[in-house]
Amino acid sequence: MLFDSHAHYDNKRFNEDRFEIIKKAYDSGVTYILNASADMASAEETITLTCKFDFVYGAVGVHPHSAAEMDENDIAKLKNFAKEDKIVAIGEIGLDYYYDFSPREQQRLWFAKQINLAKELNLPIIVHDRDAHKDVLDIIKSEQARDVGGVFHCYSGSVEMLRDVLDNNFCISVGGTLTFKNAKKAVEVVERVPLDRLLIETDCPYLTPEPHRGKRNDSSYVRLVAEKIAQIRGISFEEVAETTTNNAKRLFRIK
Ligand code: NI
Repeated sequence: MLFDSHAHYDNKRFNEDRFEIIKKAYDSGVTYILNASADMASAEETITLTCKFDFVYGAVGVHPHSAAEMDENDIAKLKNFAKEDKIVAIGEIGLDYYYDFSPREQQRLWFAKQINLAKELNLPIIVHDRDAHKDVLDIIKSEQARDVGGVFHCYSGSVEMLRDVLDNNFCISVGGTLTFKNAKKAVEVVERVPLDRLLIETDCPYLTPEPHRGKRNDSSYVRLVAEKIAQIRGISFEEVAETTTNNAKRLFRIK
């Protein structure tokens, strides 16, 4: 039993073998997958995937990279998409000041608007935060995102920031970067995070864990993230697998 809480199977890198790879992941023990949307087209494809596979759930939302393309109509469409049975969160949404593909002002505007959509729908949010820790937390506080909570996916903040994240009713999720040689900060975070607030993910096709770094990622590799956590915390793989699965099911209200 493993829950990959963040995957992108609508990505074109899965065009050749999408369904086979998802089935393979399930057969390897990944019994839940959450597909996160990147833009409006990706949100529609996410719904299709949730209809095709029992064990695939979805989040709909627009990534900060595409924030500049958004308009009010998209909020109305997302609202409709979110009414689908297996759409369990709004995401991924947030700020990306590393790439700055959309102007920062636009990123902040549409992050706030999508938080408010999540609150209206009473759904948790999936947060993308790259080099934007202060502004992400400021917006989460000003929009009172704690009312719905959610998860900081591929958490890249410090141990100090973790307190603020937890206090605002958020979990964190860690992925393949935890297995990289330079993962000192991520290892410290995993040492300190309360186990009941920790999720695991692949963010596939990106961020492939060691020893497969450089290859395309898929959900079956989430096992390597769980193994690394078990090693860091000195607990069994089974405990990590069961706890992180239960945490994700609780957050996304999956029975
Ligand atoms: Ni992602």
